[in-house]
Order: sequence, then structure tokens, then C-alpha cells
Amino acid sequence: MGLVWPLLDNSIRIIQEPGACQPFIDLCRESLYNAGRLSDNAKFHLVFSSEGVSLLHAEGKESPLFVDFAAGAVDHRRKFGGGKNQDIAKAVGLNKGFYPRVLDATAGLGRDAFVLASLGCQMVLQERSPIVYALLADGLLRAGKDADVAEIARRISLSFGSSLETMAQEDGAPIDVIYLDPMFPERNKSALVKKDMRFFHALVGDDPDADQLLSKAMTIDCARVVVKRPAKAEFLDGCKPSHQIIGKSIRYDVYVKRKLTSA
Ligand SMILES: C[S@@+](CC[C@H](N)C(=O)[O-])C[C@H]1O[C@@H](n2cnc3c(N)ncnc32)[C@H](O)[C@@H]1O
Repeated sequence: MGLVWPLLDNSIRIIQEPGACQPFIDLCRESLYNAGRLSDNAKFHLVFSSEGVSLLHAEGKESPLFVDFAAGAVDHRRKFGGGKNQDIAKAVGLNKGFYPRVLDATAGLGRDAFVLASLGCQMVLQERSPIVYALLADGLLRAGKDADVAEIARRISLSFGSSLETMAQEDGAPIDVIYLDPMFPERNKSALVKKDMRFFHALVGDDPDADQLLSKAMTIDCARVVVKRPAKAEFLDGCKPSHQIIGKSIRYDVYVKRKLTSA
């Protein structure tokens, strides 16, 4: 049975264990408090411990959700995922000798960003959910201390906030590509949807304002905007892309604004 977070009860309890020293715990607590989502009786617990940050269902048997870039599926994809032949690499225009600087405006658990960073892209990430932000920030912090992936983690920066408010590079460095992967309404709650993604979807909900992300991205000075969609989904904001890279279950819609060049 999958975890489905009833949208009327998306509250969460923060548990801070001894030894937890994550710098983002206050930010997380304050955002959730302001959103009225903190509750001692919540079914979901966000646990800050000396090991890191994890999300768990208080009564569920599922493993906690925990971002780990040095193990599991992410690590496997880094080693055996197909490198620059992957559709995501083609979509952002990763050509020999040119490594675009990518603004991932919907960071999520950072999996796509980590793939691109492992292929050499500089990644600037934004995430608006304080829970997802805490999970990802913690994953990046630990990745930065792991000899196998520290160099990749150094190519990734993360900030908290909505990309609809500020989708610009804080440091003024140019962005080549804006990457968007908003939540898509979950049509199929069956076993076909991976367990951790059901968990994630239940946590974050849909992104009903996703269309606005594309119109905002198109106003920013960059060479292209890439949108990740389920293969059969309609275009974001009803907007036809310049070209598409279509996979079995997902596709990338590419909106070309100008040529990608190194300078
Ligand atoms: C489908 S997930 C992204 C998954 C990600 N590509 C990965 O590989 O892990 C979408 C994420 O975008 C975030 N998001 C949606 N709209 C946003 C916005 N306007 N600003 C910042 N984050 C946003 C959601 O909170 C959610 O965490």
C-alpha cells in the first residue's frame, strides 16, 4: 500500500536529535511554522540527527526518505548511466568541450542536477519546499565530505525560495540553460509509481503554478529552456518546443532561444 499524504493533513513534526547540527534546521522550522504545517501529531516526521536529515512516516514500514548521492540509484546512474548519451545531457546541449551553466529551478531531490554536475555542468539549484530543501541541502553537505563525489557536489549550489519570485543568478554569472521539472499530477497511484516517488509526491503535492515557470524562464537571458515531462503530457503552458527528446516514459521539451556557445 503506497503512502498517500491526505492533502488536508500535510502537516509535519520536526524532531531534532542530539548531535544534529544542520545549519538549515531553523530555516526549515520557521518556514513550516509560517505555513501552519507544524504539528506534534503529524503522521510525517522530519528528523534532524547527527547522521543527517530524513523524512519518515510515523506508522509506516517504508524506509525513511534520505538523500544520498554516494550510494544507491544515484550512484549507480553516475557509474553506469550512459554519460553524455543520456537524453538529459542531450537536452541541455552537453557537447564536447562545452559545459553549460544550468539553473535547475525545480531542484527536488537533486537527482537530475547531480547527473548533470557529474557530467561537468555547473548547477545552480532553487527549491521552494522547506522539507525538500532540508533533505537536499543535507545530502549535498554529506556529498561534499565524501571523497567519491565531493568534486561533483562542489559544482552544485542550492538556494531556498520560489523560482517564480527570483529566477536569476545571485552572483550575476550568466546562465546558459534553465531546467524545469515541475511535479506532474499523479494519475496512477498503483505499484507502477516507484515507492519513494509516491512518498515524495505525497509530501510536495502538485505544482499547480507550473505553467508560469515556463513563461518566467523564457524572459530570462539564457540560450535554452529545457522542460522534463511525462512522455504523453501536454506541453507546459501549451507552448510548443523547438524540438523534443522523447524517451520511453519521459521526454524533454527544448525551447531554443539562441545558440549555445562557450563565450
Ligand atoms: C518533480 S520535482 C523535481 C525533481 C528533480 N528534477 C530531481 O531530479 O530530483 C519538482 C520540485 O520542484 C519544486 N518546485 C516547484 N515549483 C517551484 C518553484 N516555483 N520554485 C522552486 N521550486 C519549485 C517542488 O517543490 C519539487 O520539489
